[in-house]
Amino acid sequence: MTTVLDVQRYKDEGRRFAVLTAYDFLSARILDEAGIPVLLVGDSLGMVMLGYPTTLPVTLDDVIHHAKAVGRGAHQAMLVGDMPFMSYHTSVEQAITSAGRLVQEAGMHGVKLEGGGRVVEYTRRLTDLGIPVMGHLGLTPQSVNKFGGFKVQGKTDAQAAQILEDARSLEQAGAFSVVLEGVPSKVAVSVTNALRIPTIGIGAGPGTDAQVLVLHDMLGLTTGKAPKFVKRYANLAESIARAANEYAEDVRSGKFPGPEHEYSTNGSAPAKDREEVRYSG
Ligand code: KIV
Repeated sequence: MTTVLDVQRYKDEGRRFAVLTAYDFLSARILDEAGIPVLLVGDSLGMVMLGYPTTLPVTLDDVIHHAKAVGRGAHQAMLVGDMPFMSYHTSVEQAITSAGRLVQEAGMHGVKLEGGGRVVEYTRRLTDLGIPVMGHLGLTPQSVNKFGGFKVQGKTDAQAAQILEDARSLEQAGAFSVVLEGVPSKVAVSVTNALRIPTIGIGAGPGTDAQVLVLHDMLGLTTGKAPKFVKRYANLAESIARAANEYAEDVRSGKFPGPEHEYSTNGSAPAKDREEVRYSG
């Protein structure tokens, strides 16, 4: 199983690695078997699984629900559970309780928190308690209202310096990695060079130690204009629509179900296989 030690070794050996989000049993199993070393149960699940316009409505119970399913599907990857908005914002005690639930109830191996500042202290306390922490800086989506939209961060020298300082503080506090989201490539490179722990980029250019994408974006399940940083490796929205249309047409025309899909009373043709109702999986 991938651990924090492997992730650190990847950085030490200069091996770039891929991280993907996962929110359900089947996709977690597929990604795990494909050898993706780190799976993130991101609060992006609120947007791609639950249809919210931002991640802000996502609750800790939502993340735990999805994280449990991911844990049932993935057995090799390191699993990181996202701490959603307001699950760590009021106190260090709240951060510990929420992170503890992600580990204890959902079987996560680590947690992710957005931001610097007070989150540095939370990172120190969680790490002290044995809970690995992934930091998250730059365009942190839980602060979308503060930023006035999903806007690239770190464009000014002052912002870039703040991101670098926060990243260094998170590393000193014990974070095992830091996500850099929506920052200029130059900023991501300077943070990556300054840190001993791996940086994981999304919309941060090619200079980070790892890359993360939202699964539904890279599979082409999300439709419309994708953000600039997304590369679509498949067009599943189109494939699903095509399959659904074909199925509906087969039902209308009587082509489906065919003889191979039927059960008989005596085991003779047309049903050839055992007369047992199963669902594939
Ligand atoms: O919620 C999420 O999926 C994330 C990643 C995009 C880093 O935070």
